Amino acid sequence: MRSEFQRPRGTQDILPPASYRMEQIRRIAIDTAAKFGYDLIETPIFEQTPVFLRVGESTDIVQHERYSFTDAGGVDLTLRPEGTAAIARAYVEHGMFNQPQPVRMCYYGPMFRRERPQALRYRQHTQFGAELYGSIQPEADAEVILLACDVVEQVGLKNPVIRLNSIGCSQCRPSYRKSLIEYYQGRHQELCEDCQTRIHTNPLRLLDCKIDVEIRQQAPDIQDYWCEDCRAHYQQLTKLLTEAGRQVIRDPFLVRGLDYYTRTVFEIGHPSLGNQTALFGGGRYDGLATTLDGPEVTPAVGFGMGIERILSAVEENFPLPPKRSVYVAHLPGFEDAAFVLAENLRQQGFSAESDLLRRSLKAQLRDANRRSTVVVIVGGKEWEQGQVAVKRLGESEQLTIHQDQLSEFLRQELTPNP
Ligand code: HAM
Repeated sequence: MRSEFQRPRGTQDILPPASYRMEQIRRIAIDTAAKFGYDLIETPIFEQTPVFLRVGESTDIVQHERYSFTDAGGVDLTLRPEGTAAIARAYVEHGMFNQPQPVRMCYYGPMFRRERPQALRYRQHTQFGAELYGSIQPEADAEVILLACDVVEQVGLKNPVIRLNSIGCSQCRPSYRKSLIEYYQGRHQELCEDCQTRIHTNPLRLLDCKIDVEIRQQAPDIQDYWCEDCRAHYQQLTKLLTEAGRQVIRDPFLVRGLDYYTRTVFEIGHPSLGNQTALFGGGRYDGLATTLDGPEVTPAVGFGMGIERILSAVEENFPLPPKRSVYVAHLPGFEDAAFVLAENLRQQGFSAESDLLRRSLKAQLRDANRRSTVVVIVGGKEWEQGQVAVKRLGESEQLTIHQDQLSEFLRQELTPNP
C-alpha cells in the first residue's frame, strides 16, 4: 500500500542496520579527531541568513539551493548548507581568537541543500568536518588532510589518494583570473549555457564544469601564476603529506564550489563512487572569519566529509559488533513474569526483550531465533521452584538453572570471547 505521505524528495530514512553503521562511523570520526586534538563543537542547524551569504553569493548553495525562511519574528533564517560558515560565526562570537592558537574543532550533523536529487546527492546529508584556526603554515593544511585520511582509513577505506591544488591568493589569483577569462572568451561559442554565465560570475568554476572538459585541457594552469609564497606553501604541503606516507596528485582543475577558499583546496574520492563524487573536500579560507566581523587576519583550514557517501563506500564490509541479547519467552499464563524478568535483566545491564503479542511458545521461539543470543523460558513447575529453562539459540539442548544464577549464567554467555 502506498501512502500519500512520502519523505521529502532528496531525503532519506536511514534504517537499521545502516543507522548503526552510521553511528559507528560518527564515533570513529570523533575519536580520530580527538586523537589529533580536535574538540567537538555543535552549532544550531539554522543560522541568520547573512552568515551563509558570506560563503559567497556566486556559490550554488547560496544562490539557489538555500532552504531559507522568515520566522514569526521576521528574522531571515537559513538551514545550514555547510558547517564552515557556522563555525566561523561561532569562532568570532565566542572570541576564540583570544584563546591560545591554533584552535582545533570538529563537528557532525545534518546539512541542507536544495540540490537536484541524484545518487549520493541529497537535500539533507550528514557531514563530519574539522576546522583549524590560527595558523597560516602548510603544517596546518597537512594536519587537517591527514586527519581526514585517517578517518577514511579507520572506517576501512584504505590508501586514499588526495587530489590537491592551490587556487592562489589575492596577490596572484587576479592575473590568473584575467588569463582564464580571456581564454574562455576566445571559445565562448563552444561553451555550455552555465559556463557562458560562469565567465562573468565565477570564472574559476569554468574548470570544474562536467560538460566542457575538452576545452579546459588547453586552459591556462594556475601553477604558472602562483606567487612565490603560494608556490612555497604548496610545495611544503605536498612534501609533508608525502613524507607522512600519503599519496598526493595535483589536480589543476580542482577549484571547489565554495567562494571562500584561498590557496589550498583538496578532495578525496573512492573508486566505488565514480570520479565525480567526493568523499570529502576542503581547503584553506583565511578571509572568511574576517568577513563575519572577526579579526583582520584569521587563517583557517578545514574539510567536510559526507557520511552517507562513506556509508555507501564501506557498505557491508563495515562489520557491526554482534548483537548479544536475551529473549524472555513465557509459557501460557506467565506473560507478566516474563515481562518483569526482562525489565530486571535490563536493569542489570543486559539487553533483553519479551513477547508483547501473547504468542504461543513456538511463535516466541521463532521470533527469538531472529533477534537474540539466548532464550530464557519462564513458566511451569520450574518457575514455581525458582528455576528457569535456558537455551542457546541454534542449539537444541535446554538447561534448567536456578533463578539466582541466571545473571551469572547470562554474563558468561553474552560476554564476547576474547
Ligand atoms: P563540500 O564539498 O560542499 O564542502 O561538502 C563536503 C562533503 O560533503 C562532500 O565532499 C560530500 O562528501 C558531502 N556532500 C556535500 N553535498 C552533499 C549532498 N548534497 N549529498 C551528499 N553528500 C554531500 C563543504 O561543505 C565545506 N564546508 C568543506 C570545508 C570545511 N571547507 C573548509 N572547511
